[in-house]
Amino acid sequence: MKQTAMTRTRTVAVTGASSGIGEATARRLAADGHRVLLGARRTDRLERLVEEITAAGGTAAFRTLDVTDAADTRAFVDATVHEYGRIDALVNNAGVMPLSPLAALRTDEWDRMIDVNVRGVLHGIAAALPVMRAQGGGHFVNVASIGAYEVSPTAAVYCATKYAVRAISEGLRQESAGDVRVTLVSPGVTESELADGISDPQAREAMKAYRAVALPASAIADAIAYAVAQPPQVDVNEIVVRPVASAR
Ligand SMILES: NC(=O)c1ccc[n+]([C@@H]2O[C@H](COP(=O)([O-])OP(=O)(O)OC[C@H]3O[C@@H](n4cnc5c(N)ncnc54)[C@H](OP(=O)(O)O)[C@@H]3O)[C@@H](O)[C@H]2O)c1
Repeated sequence: MKQTAMTRTRTVAVTGASSGIGEATARRLAADGHRVLLGARRTDRLERLVEEITAAGGTAAFRTLDVTDAADTRAFVDATVHEYGRIDALVNNAGVMPLSPLAALRTDEWDRMIDVNVRGVLHGIAAALPVMRAQGGGHFVNVASIGAYEVSPTAAVYCATKYAVRAISEGLRQESAGDVRVTLVSPGVTESELADGISDPQAREAMKAYRAVALPASAIADAIAYAVAQPPQVDVNEIVVRPVASAR
């Protein structure tokens, strides 16, 4: 049988796979026949997810992961290679979004967004890039946001982290031409646990109406699965997925 993009089996590591977009991506990639290694801090969730994927005939394993820790992220990538022999793609999906106005001076939350959303992606690149180069290719799928393209009140730091992910992704793409593929996936509002981490009352209230039109996380997983399934010479660079009902 001639192999199509949809039947090409890949080994994919997914960060932040314990809920929302990461969980949906794990389910979708496994359903497509890819082998997945799932990472996050809530390993009870990952364990259940792996059981469900395996029961449905998929191939999945998990490892505890804190992307703010460079050594831990390296161990996660190494675990993928140990489990499956290689790492074809790393989905840098883990992220946090404790929105607040700058004047609220929630500096610990600014630090956490920078640590998870920016340093976490850099740790993923530092861990996987040498492995991908050594094995002759690979693919980074970095999950940004529509906040990588526009800024809104209470989201200055969050958007800054996502602009950074976009800049890092484009730089990596240019430097890796001919070697490693780079895809930036930028969701609009999507059902997940992301807004649960907002402690600022004003930002929390503003989120309620905005999230009313949220897409199912599977819509973003579909976009990631599309990029992952492309033949090796095809590099899908940017995908923005918004609800039809969203103006922004
Ligand atoms: N939902 C949206 O509307 C939306 C829109 C645009 C972009 N995004 C982006 O989509 C990505 C996924 O978010 P989501 O919406 O699916 O939210 P979510 O349900 O809250 O999922 C976030 C994931 O990140 C993981 N995570 C957080 N801190 C981590 C750390 N230090 N180390 C490892 N994993 C960590 C969480 O797992 P643990 O807590 O178990 O570690 C969880 O699995 C994020 O990058 C987010 O910015 C989401």
